[in-house]
Amino acid sequence: MDRGRSERHPSIVDFLGFLDPAAPTKIGQTHYDRPILGGWEALQRLPRQLHFACGIGSPEVRRKECTEAERRGLQPATLVFPNAVLARHVDIGEGTVIGVGVVVGPCARLGRHCVINHQTTVGHDARLGDFCVVSPGARVLGNVVLGECVFIGTTATVFQGRCIGAGATLGANSFLISDLKPGQSAIGVPASPFSPPRKIPATPHIPVESIEQGPGGEL
Ligand SMILES: CC(C)(COP(=O)(O)OP(=O)(O)OC[C@H]1O[C@@H](n2cnc3c(N)ncnc32)[C@H](O)[C@@H]1OP(=O)(O)O)[C@@H](O)C(=O)NCCC(=O)NCCS
Repeated sequence: MDRGRSERHPSIVDFLGFLDPAAPTKIGQTHYDRPILGGWEALQRLPRQLHFACGIGSPEVRRKECTEAERRGLQPATLVFPNAVLARHVDIGEGTVIGVGVVVGPCARLGRHCVINHQTTVGHDARLGDFCVVSPGARVLGNVVLGECVFIGTTATVFQGRCIGAGATLGANSFLISDLKPGQSAIGVPASPFSPPRKIPATPHIPVESIEQGPGGEL
């Protein structure tokens, strides 16, 4: 299914600020000069029909917080930076954020609540499960399959057609030429599994952004 950009991604949003359920006492402080609105209780004070995008780098924590946000009635915002290049027939799941300078090849399918960080490429026909994180400068080549909650480290490369199981982690600057089993970690060039499996820690800063559609500045 070709879910076109104009259909899925508003170009204008009014960015209200951050929710931080892990630190509701930060209310009144700012982050990147935007207000921290509080924890989940802040939703009672905010307008209805809010959209959110998640700013957490750990796939598992993304899954937890995004699931909770949706349970509380927030709508996922699918955000694509204006200079990203999306080929035809790219399918982007709700809540996925695509950063500056990203290139996505034809027929790639990106799951829900993924981060495709800046300057990354996702090759043709690649399949990314929900909550995957592709770090800056990484390259996911054509026909690669990533399970849910896979983390690809910065500038890492996944060779064409390889499969990475759910919850696996590929370290920064690694080059993966084999498949990875669910939950495995791998590092190096070429990448080899190492144990115990490593997990990306939850980022200590703000996990959830609140965004309301309407007049405002461009992203
Ligand atoms: C793979 C990773 C998750 C492992 O993290 P960790 O468990 O904290 O690993 P450590 O720092 O304890 O390192 C363990 C060993 O692996 C080595 N190592 C860690 N990451 C490596 C990498 N990417 N490539 C090669 N070797 C690596 C370390 O040098 C260390 O070796 P040693 O035991 O001989 O000293 C982490 O190093 C990594 O690559 N994270 C991705 C970071 C990233 O891309 N962030 C995106 C920010 S937007």
